[in-house]
Amino acid sequence: MEAPASPFDTLLYNVDADGIAVITLNRPDKLNAINTQVLADLQRAFRQTRSDERVRGVVLTGSGEKAFAAGADIAEFTDLDALEGHRFALRGQAILTSIENSPKPVVAAVNGYALGGGCELALACHLRVASENAQFGLPEVGLGLIPGYGGTQRLPRLVGQGLATEMILTGDRITAERAHAIGLVNHVTPSSDLLAKAQEIVGTIVSKAPLAVAMALNALRSVDLPQAQGLQMEAALFGQACGTEDFQEGVHAFLNKQKPEFSGR
Ligand code: CAA
Repeated sequence: MEAPASPFDTLLYNVDADGIAVITLNRPDKLNAINTQVLADLQRAFRQTRSDERVRGVVLTGSGEKAFAAGADIAEFTDLDALEGHRFALRGQAILTSIENSPKPVVAAVNGYALGGGCELALACHLRVASENAQFGLPEVGLGLIPGYGGTQRLPRLVGQGLATEMILTGDRITAERAHAIGLVNHVTPSSDLLAKAQEIVGTIVSKAPLAVAMALNALRSVDLPQAQGLQMEAALFGQACGTEDFQEGVHAFLNKQKPEFSGR
């Protein structure tokens, strides 16, 4: 039987039986470079993951064996001037930030090159799993640019200022193994196991209380606040969690040595 046509020009979108949406960047002949259409499709696809009640978590990956995404589509750069460049960065940032703000967990399965905007897209996901052949880099300075989809902000927060500065100023690519050693990725797997590993992680997360997962993501996003404010935020969210039916269920199940059945309320 033929697979149903994708509703997106540049993405494949499938929801499996466990409610995990697998979104695949699908321009393999251009190493999944992120053009205007890809950004628009990503925006629409992630809106769909929010509104579709079947979807409990997301895996984002790239098609083909070479690339997750080799960056923003350089073929679209010829008309960029100072004003258009600013708009270009703001638009990409907004869409990647909406991915980061997803209340449902998003895991990047990085199956090859994650360069420039492709690396930044992986950084906007909540967790990253990489295949052994993956390579990460921010080569923008070699194009007379700087990272514009959040790389100067998210990379230092993840791996520290020194390592981020080196990657951004040299443009050098690093291997999956090195990315793992510096905390850029959570796990490295053989290519053949990559998707299954990402699905396994999302599967574990979505077996927990969905509102608690969303609240934890929310609290984790507050690490940039001064600590006293972050603690206030954590306490407020903890209180909200205590008001949910899932909290009652989780405690009741523990005390009765049962498996909790979370309803997402
Ligand atoms: N934009 C547009 N097209 C791209 C692309 C990109 N970022 N990366 C690869 N492609 C295209 C190539 O032009 C080529 O197309 P054709 O077959 O039509 O010529 C095809 O994908 C295959 O690529 P290569 O032949 O170059 O493959 P390779 O194996 O020899 O090299 C690579 C792979 C090292 C990743 C090389 O393609 C490369 O350096 N790509 C550009 C990486 C880059 O600079 N990314 C940053 C972009 S700027 C950015 O992202 C700004 C931002 O912060 C938002």
